[in-house]
Amino acid sequence: MKALLLAGGLGTRLRPLTEQLPKPMAPVANRPWLEYLILQLKEQGIMELVIALKHYPDFIRSHFGDGSRFGVSIAYTLEDKALGTAGAIKHAESLLGDRFLALNADVVQRIDLLPLLEFHREHGGAVTIGLTEVKDPTQFGVVERTRSGRILRFVEKPKKGEAPSNLINAGIYVMEREVLSFIPPGREVSVERETFPELIASGAGVYGFPMKGYWMDMGTHERYRQVHWDLLDRKLLLPVNGVERRTGIWIGHECVIGSGALLVPPVLIGDRVRIGDGAVIGPYAVIGSDCRILGEARLEETIMWDRCLVQYGARLHQCVFGCDTEIGSRHVLYDAVVNRMRKAVTA
Ligand code: GTP
Repeated sequence: MKALLLAGGLGTRLRPLTEQLPKPMAPVANRPWLEYLILQLKEQGIMELVIALKHYPDFIRSHFGDGSRFGVSIAYTLEDKALGTAGAIKHAESLLGDRFLALNADVVQRIDLLPLLEFHREHGGAVTIGLTEVKDPTQFGVVERTRSGRILRFVEKPKKGEAPSNLINAGIYVMEREVLSFIPPGREVSVERETFPELIASGAGVYGFPMKGYWMDMGTHERYRQVHWDLLDRKLLLPVNGVERRTGIWIGHECVIGSGALLVPPVLIGDRVRIGDGAVIGPYAVIGSDCRILGEARLEETIMWDRCLVQYGARLHQCVFGCDTEIGSRHVLYDAVVNRMRKAVTA
């Protein structure tokens, strides 16, 4: 079975981090999320992938090529204009089989496909939507299902106490080819807003299957940070890109950590990072490769992509910095998200 990965969204909510890269390529614990996703699909026997591109297509194409470096085969589609989630699926029609998977490539999850695929086979619907349970459904579109799992309707952002369930669309679908005939070609179409309601209205079988395990849409700054903390806390059981030197402290190759520096777990440090004396890193910090953190700097609940420079004595709390950002000496930043080239935040 082939999987279509939807990776062409603008990622507006994650700006400015997505100003220069597609959201699924945002690093999670120093590794592009899309790598984790592709490797999980491969582990579960999905070796033929199609990636639907729109924004910064070369970023993804040059990274994955034909997929052979990752042990899978990858084809690409490229949209002239954004076609939305369903439009992108329709656009890939010639590359898809009779039954296929479609996934939002920006959802961080630990995927267990087998139960979802079995459910789909047993129920024989046109589409089975993977569902995930959330505590507060008022911010999402929730589903109302029959006992057999057939979806009756979607309720957008229900008021407190009025939600028919706590189950929301997890952005992972098993589809039969017939679904494609419901999607008009050449224009923007959303699966949630148009295609699924139309399928339900037509009487086609639209089922929902509650999936177990970790799920987080990393579409906002807060959730992007949370994914990291969940990975470091091992609530999200994906491999951490580094050697665990002490409990909760992962360090890459060729790092130089000053004897007077303090690492407070959980912390992940990439390759060739230099940390000066008196610096305090963590709790909850992810430092990309080739970063330099000078003496007496303090970082807490902060993520830093590659090649950043933190000058002497800077204080950073709940921040995210894109590649090559420089933080000036003794700067104090709280809840900042910066993605500009070097010297953007200097004194
Ligand atoms: P926001 O702009 O912040 O809403 O993000 P987004 O549009 O990138 O993501 P959203 O959650 O709305 O989309 C879900 C998934 O579908 C993401 O993986 C997107 O990359 C993808 N996607 C959304 N729109 C398109 C599109 O027009 N074309 C393609 N190929 N993929 C899309």
